[in-house]
Amino acid sequence: MRTDRTFTMLKPDSVEKGHIGAILEKITSAGFKIVAMKLTQMTTADAEEFYAIHKERPFFGELVTYMTRGPIVAAILEKDNAVEDFRTLIGATNPDEAAEGTIRKLYAASIGENAVHGSDSDENAAIEGAFHFAGREIF
Ligand code: RTP
Ligand code: MG
Repeated sequence: MRTDRTFTMLKPDSVEKGHIGAILEKITSAGFKIVAMKLTQMTTADAEEFYAIHKERPFFGELVTYMTRGPIVAAILEKDNAVEDFRTLIGATNPDEAAEGTIRKLYAASIGENAVHGSDSDENAAIEGAFHFAGREIF
């Protein structure tokens, strides 16, 4: 299992607010190389599958509505220790608890609308990258 890749989405709120450029600048300045990227929109079925682990949670319906309401930027990022370092860069799920300077502290509105996704394990990074990208789209 490779440990140098993670998967991210700039969520619909980030795209709506015009934060794509600023967030990508934070990501590349932190040493992540973009090896796949696109603007895309998830269907309800896509979001239900992508976040299936949360299907029993009370916020699941809200999460699916949020993640499908507009386009996202999906990307695969490369760096040593990618999953952990990217989770550090984005900060806590709840922006009120996120460290200063993190992407969620800077750009997230709330725990529900929190600007970015980051894979939580090397295994999920591989699954999530393959969910959004064909092999020929990954460099
Ligand atoms: P993500 O998967 O998007 O990177 O976020 P995460 O690991 O930090 O948080 P996770 O527990 O996996 O939750 C997934 C997403 O569900 C929404 N959420 N809403 N209203 C709530 O209490 C609540 N809790 C989580 C957020 O969009 C969160 O990122
Ligand atoms: Mg998660």
